[in-house]
Amino acid sequence: MIYCDNMIQPKKYTKTSKIPPKGFNSANEFFEYVFNDKEMIWMGQNTNHLHKESDILDEMVRCVESREYCKYPPPEGFQELKNLILNDLDLEDKDILITAGGTESLYLCMHNILEPKDTVITCDPGYLIIDDFASRFSNKVISVPIYSEDNDYKLTPELVKEFMDENTKIIVLIDPLNPLGSAYTEEEIKEFAKIAIQNDIYLLHDITYRDFARKHFLAAHYAPDHAITVYSFSKIFGMAGLRIGSVIGTEKIINSIRTILINDLGTNVVAQAGAIAALKSKDTWIDEVITITRNNQNLIKKCVDEIEGAFIPVHPSDANMLAIDLKGTGINPKVMADYLLKRKVFAREGTYTSKLFGDNYLRVSFSIPEEQVKIFVDEFKSAVEVLRK
Ligand SMILES: Cc1ncc(COP(=O)(O)O)c(C=O)c1O
Repeated sequence: MIYCDNMIQPKKYTKTSKIPPKGFNSANEFFEYVFNDKEMIWMGQNTNHLHKESDILDEMVRCVESREYCKYPPPEGFQELKNLILNDLDLEDKDILITAGGTESLYLCMHNILEPKDTVITCDPGYLIIDDFASRFSNKVISVPIYSEDNDYKLTPELVKEFMDENTKIIVLIDPLNPLGSAYTEEEIKEFAKIAIQNDIYLLHDITYRDFARKHFLAAHYAPDHAITVYSFSKIFGMAGLRIGSVIGTEKIINSIRTILINDLGTNVVAQAGAIAALKSKDTWIDEVITITRNNQNLIKKCVDEIEGAFIPVHPSDANMLAIDLKGTGINPKVMADYLLKRKVFAREGTYTSKLFGDNYLRVSFSIPEEQVKIFVDEFKSAVEVLRK
C-alpha cells in the first residue's frame, strides 16, 4: 500500500477551528443535526425567516419548473441581476460579479489584492472567516480589539490609524458589525475614505447586514477608487441556503478579480432567479421585515434589562443580531448556548466571533417570528436562574 500523507504540504495559515458541541464528532455533524431539527428556533446564524409567500419563492419555483437549470448560466451572472444590485446601491458606474455569497466575494478580494508582505486590519469581535482568508495571502492580520464602550464597540478611524503600518493594504469594515450590530456614521465613513485615499489602500466594505441599519453609508460613495463592496442575499433577502452574493468595485479591480475566479461556470441559476425577484419586489416586503425584526429586538432588550449582571453592549443593534454580555452573571456563554440548544433554541457563544472576548457574550439573531422570540425570552430567563447557581 502507498501512503500519500507526506504529499500534503502543511499550510502556513491556521483555520479557526470550529469546536463541535458535546456529543458531536465534527462541526458539520452538529450543523446537520440542528438543520434537520424542524422545531429548532434559529437564532444562531443571523438568517432571516420572515419572508412569507413571495415573488422570490414564485420565481424560483418557475425557474425550477422551466428546467433552465440544465444549462450553465453566464459565468459572471445575469446582466439583469448585476444592474439591479448596482441600482440598489446607487453604484451604477461600478463593475460587478455575481458570486456564491459574500463569502466567495471576500475570498476573491483577499486572494486578488494581497501580497505576502501585506498586512490587513480587521476587528475583534468580527467575522472570523475574513481573518482566515486574509491570513492565507498576507504576512499579518491585525485584529484590533474593539469590545469597549471607549470606542463605541467598533473599529474607529482613530484605532485604524493607531494600528495600521506601512504594509497595510486592506482595512476591513463590517458594517453593521457581526456580532455586535454597531454601524458607522457618515462622518466615520468619510474619515475611513480619507485614510484609504491618502495611503492608496483598500477599504473592504462588507455590507451583508446593510438593510437592517437605521442609516447606512457606502464607503464606495466617498472613496470610489479605493472601496470594494461585498454584498449578500443571505440576510435581508432571506436566501442564505441559496448561496448568492456579489462583489462590486472599479472596473480595474473587478477585471483583476476576473483573472482568479473560482466559479468559472457561473452561480446557481435558481438562486439568481430568486435574487432578481427579491430586488424587484424589495419595496413590497422590506418594511414588514424591518418592523418585526426591530420589535423582536425590543423584546430581547426588555428581557436582558431585567437580568442582573447581563447587558447588551450595542443598543439598538443596526443588524438582525446582538450580543448579550454575560460576564456579570458568571455564566459561560458556551454553557448557555449548550443549555439553550437542549431546549431547541440555537444561539451562538462568543468564541464563534471573537478570539479575545468570546467568554463575554452570547450572540442571538432575531429576524424570526415574534412567537419564537418570546420562547427564547422565557428560556433565557430560566437558563440564567439555573446556570447562575
Ligand atoms: C459579516 C459577514 N459577511 C459575510 C457573511 C457571509 O455571507 P454569505 O452567506 O453571503 O456568504 C456573513 C454571514 O454570516 C457575515 O456575517
